[in-house]
Amino acid sequence: MSQIVEAFSRLAEDYDRWYEGNPLFESECLAVEAMGEVPHPSLEVGAGTGRFAARLGLDFGLDPSLEMLRLARKRGVAAVCGRAEELPFGDGTLAGVYFLFAFCFLEDQEKALSEARRVLGPEGLLVLGIINRASAWGRLYQEKAASGHPLYRWARFLTPEELVARASSQGFAFKRAVSTLFQSPQGPPQVESPREGVHPAAGFVVLSFTKT
Ligand SMILES: C[S@@+](CC[C@H](N)C(=O)[O-])C[C@H]1O[C@@H](n2cnc3c(N)ncnc32)[C@H](O)[C@@H]1O
Repeated sequence: MSQIVEAFSRLAEDYDRWYEGNPLFESECLAVEAMGEVPHPSLEVGAGTGRFAARLGLDFGLDPSLEMLRLARKRGVAAVCGRAEELPFGDGTLAGVYFLFAFCFLEDQEKALSEARRVLGPEGLLVLGIINRASAWGRLYQEKAASGHPLYRWARFLTPEELVARASSQGFAFKRAVSTLFQSPQGPPQVESPREGVHPAAGFVVLSFTKT
């Protein structure tokens, strides 16, 4: 087991607790939901404890951590143990693949994108939700990482522009983006409505892609 997966497994319960009644989670869900209807069948890669997969009604949640998946299963998510770099799904079998707060933790981001491309059908939709490295939230998480945070120390944060370049290099065309978390990380958390497009100040940006 990689050190990243070991860290998530050790902290699964604490990680999951953060979401309970959190206005930031609600804001993030609103942003993903603003991307439109979920196509079926859909998979979340790096689904963790299944908070997003359950809320969005995704068909499968994949993660390498059994401790994270145990909580996802309790939430009714069809949990699949596996890695983004080697998806246990056949070619062209899925209509949607989602990576939410997981892409920065992957060992091989290019391989994960090529695997997502392989399992998606010709009209398939790829959706990536990331912490924007260039935002105040991105800076906060980089500071946490630099001071040895047990989870964020493993993350490789990207800007939306870097993500678009990486996805393009793996055969994806950018379709649409929605941004949220314009609020300061220092203030009391509030529910926000998402805004269309990529905004440099947004802490969380959701981007969708289709296969070229
Ligand atoms: C920050 S959590 C995100 C979980 C969930 N998407 C959410 O937002 O609540 C990142 C997840 O990525 C998973 N992960 C780490 N390496 C992975 C890999 N190579 N393939 C798939 N998932 C991985 C971790 O186990 C963890 O559950």
